[in-house]
Amino acid sequence: MRPRGQSAPFLPALAGLILLMVPIACGGSTRPTTPTPDVPGGDLPPLAVAGRAVDKLIGAAVQAALLNDTRYGAVAAREFSYFTAEYEMKWNALQPAPGVHDFSRGDAIVAFADMQGARVKGHALVWHQSTPAWAEALTPDQLRAALTDHIRTTVEHYRGRVMAWDVVNEAIADGGGGLRDTIYRQKLGDGYIAEAFRAARAADPGALLFYNDYGGEGMNTKSNRIYDLVRDLRAQGVPVDGVGLQMHLSANSRPSDAAIAANMRRLADLGLRVNISEMDVKINDVPGGPAARLDAQRATYRDVVRLCVTEPRCDAVTFWGFTDAHTWLTGDSPLLYDSSYQPKPAYFGVLDALMGR
Ligand code: XIL
Repeated sequence: MRPRGQSAPFLPALAGLILLMVPIACGGSTRPTTPTPDVPGGDLPPLAVAGRAVDKLIGAAVQAALLNDTRYGAVAAREFSYFTAEYEMKWNALQPAPGVHDFSRGDAIVAFADMQGARVKGHALVWHQSTPAWAEALTPDQLRAALTDHIRTTVEHYRGRVMAWDVVNEAIADGGGGLRDTIYRQKLGDGYIAEAFRAARAADPGALLFYNDYGGEGMNTKSNRIYDLVRDLRAQGVPVDGVGLQMHLSANSRPSDAAIAANMRRLADLGLRVNISEMDVKINDVPGGPAARLDAQRATYRDVVRLCVTEPRCDAVTFWGFTDAHTWLTGDSPLLYDSSYQPKPAYFGVLDALMGR
């Protein structure tokens, strides 16, 4: 991804984070040193290191409140070089009341990333599920002003520290029936998407700007509408740099490799970057016992991450969390580490994809 200048870490959060680094410096990591049967003996590279070897950023959504947890922080710091705030940079988290801004938790994630020399993706400037309650009640003119101010204030605050933004999230209706009928479309019209991207570009010309969505990973009516949307935006000169494919999958049923690859390629042919932006893989509906479920999960992670490795315009893979102890898919085990912070077969599946095994 476009390199950005490093910035001085936030001093307020720095002290707490230094304590966090001690276990790592003293070898207290949970590094998987047992090679899997299909990987020669010796130490395995962290995911971010393996990703760097194939020019891919490997990231995770993180929660600011957990970064001071020794095990959570150690794995995040070691394995990933690209962090997304799971919820701390959403509008309702950043501005709980009109004109009342709380950047503290987003700042903690940026400071943590700065400590590792890692990058940050901002998520998400415009999302119908994170509109502050006070903004829901605004008139159309008030909402347009508040949204534009939110985008400008937020992106300017993180200018030079956040490499990319999910500017608009999940604006296409399920089933591919056109734009989702959100408060933004209702009150601002279809043009709200272009307005948001233009406001973000004006606030930080150096940031990469993404459209992000789920359910449009393969070739289907929803991915066709996403394709049409970003094609038309680009044709109108709207500054869209990439598309995030969220990649919330089930190991029991998912788009085929060929369909995902074709969708990535057609987006790339528009001149766009592609990200796998929120990957997790549910396994509860996989038939068979625990071993079968974990094997199916490993194969899914391996095969899908491999699609990003082989697509030149796919420059980042982000997992939506990394330990089953903290997943939004409560009741399932969708991530790379178990609840005791031990790497699962899925972890090695990602490593296999990045190391070309
Ligand atoms: C989810 C978070 O994981 C939860 O912690 C939060 O309560 C709700 O949002 N698609 C997205 C993410 O773009 O922002 C959502 O994250 C998951 C679905």
